[in-house]
This record gives sequence, C-alpha cells and structure tokens, in this order.
Amino acid sequence: MNTLQDEILRLKKDKNAVILGHNYQRKEVQEISDFLGDSYGLSVKATKVESDIIVFCGVDFMAESAKILNPGKTVLLPNVKSVCPMAAMVDVDPLKALKAKNPDAPVVSYVNTSAAVKAETDICCTSANAVKIVKSLPNEKIIFVPDTNLGLYVKRFVKDKEMILWPGYCPTHVNIKVEDLKALKAEHPNAEVFVHPECTPEVIDFADFAYSTEGIIRHSVSSPKREFIIGTETNMIHRLRKEAPGKEFFGVEAATCPNMREISLEDVRDALLKTQHKIELSNELIARARIPLERMIEAGRQD
Ligand code: 13P
Ligand code: SF4
Repeated sequence: MNTLQDEILRLKKDKNAVILGHNYQRKEVQEISDFLGDSYGLSVKATKVESDIIVFCGVDFMAESAKILNPGKTVLLPNVKSVCPMAAMVDVDPLKALKAKNPDAPVVSYVNTSAAVKAETDICCTSANAVKIVKSLPNEKIIFVPDTNLGLYVKRFVKDKEMILWPGYCPTHVNIKVEDLKALKAEHPNAEVFVHPECTPEVIDFADFAYSTEGIIRHSVSSPKREFIIGTETNMIHRLRKEAPGKEFFGVEAATCPNMREISLEDVRDALLKTQHKIELSNELIARARIPLERMIEAGRQD
C-alpha cells in the first residue's frame, strides 16, 4: 500500500533531503523525522547535514537557525503558520534602544528569536545551556531576551550578575499551573516532576527539576523512578514512551503549542514535492546572526 509516509520517504530520497523534527511535533511527524531533538541538538545537527535539503519540522526560528548555520543548504519550513509567538515578542528597534542605554551589557538571546534579533546579539542560548552561558560571561550586567521565565530560572544559579529581563513569555508554558501538577502528583505520588524552564517560577519551585526538552528525555531514561509528570508540550510524551519503555508519563492537558502542531504529513509531502517554503535570508544577515549561534554551540550543554 502506498501511504503518505512511503511517499515522503521516496521523495526524501529522490530529492536528497533530510527531515529534522523538534520533540514537540505531532507523533506522525516524529515518526518520519530522521533526527529528533531540542533546539540545541537540532542546531548542532543542522551544521552537520550533507544532504541538499533540510525539511525543518519545528517553528520558524529553528528553521532560520538551520539556514544560518548551514547556508549552502535549502531549508524548508513545511507550514508557514508554524511560528513561535515568544520569538515575535522582541523587535530589533526596542532592543537597540535598550543596548544604547546599557552599553556595557552584552545581549544574551534565547534562540527563540528572529534572525534580525540574533544579528544584534552577543551570544545565543537555549534552555539546554542558558545557565552555563550566562555564568561564563565576565560582565556584571547582562541583557537577556525575550523569555522572562527562562531569565528568572537562570538568576537562581547566577547571583553575582544583574540581568535585565525582557517581558516575553511562552503562552504554552505559562498555561501550566501548579494546581495541574498538584492534581497529577496526588494521583501519582511517586512520580518525579520534570518541567521546562519556560514555566513560571511557582511551577519550577514545585517541580523536581527543570530541563530542556532533550534534558527531560535524557533524565527520564536515566532516572531510577518509574513514573513521571511532564510539564511541557504533551507531544513529547510520544518520544518519552518510546525511549523509556515500561515507564509511565503523565502530561498536563493545557500544555499544547498550537504553532508546533501546525505541520502535518501532507505539509511535509508538499514541501518536498514543491520545494516550499524556503527560508530566505540575506548573506549579510546570515553572517551577523551566525556569530552568536556559533558561540552558543561552542558552549555545549548543561543538561
Ligand atoms: P527546547 O530547546 O528545550 O526543545 O525548547 C524549545 C521550545 O520552544 C520550548 O518551548
Ligand atoms: Fe514558542 Fe512556546 Fe511553542 Fe516553544 S512552546 S515554540 S516557546 S510558543
């Protein structure tokens, strides 16, 4: 039987393409991805791709980062509605104004930002290395954009620096409430609670640990516990069940990112068939945005 999956696999081979997928993708998209990971892992992987085409199943800033890091490749975002609302919360002009007021403070940008914002950035970070990167900077004052909650999480570990936080947030993660976790914990008292650092400080206080999405997977696999409450996008649970068979995972119903869920198998097929929708960035922008991304990769992971 010729299924959509078969068609995608055939097209992928014919076009010499690779499919990179974020851990939040729909389960059927996870299944046809060649590599799954968090924003850090996907950025590293993008630098190593040798195929002509990268089909990026994630949100816009992730596909942009792949293009910036491997500009000779054609990078396709299968659905243009797959955008990160948090990344849209910081613009270049207000960032430039903040830089002008704080000329001694380097800009650390969460990778959830546009290429234009990255071009105004000293070093990028992801949730897998934000603490490590901020700690490594010699400066006393740091501008951190755009996620306030990730910034507050970093501050827990970096007491000797002033961090100027941007008022951005992730609509999905602020939807996760302590009450949701408490209710799940009451049902599963032995479960270990893992959340993402984009969650609110109260949620992080309640959790056992906060990790990037890949960190949650690694620590669920290695933990001696058998049950886990997961405070991040529930699509992650598909991969968790595969990587840690025999363990049980309980998700927070409200934790869905509609933008990450935009990409369907039909979109992936059409992207390959029509070579759409290409990430197009000027060479000048790529050259500037690449510097903070390469510094971020060089820093490595903390989780
Ligand atoms: P990770 O880098 O941890 O996968 O997170 C990306 C993201 O968008 C979380 O909302
Ligand atoms: Fe952006 Fe939040 Fe969705 Fe991640 S979960 S892609 S930060 S909106």
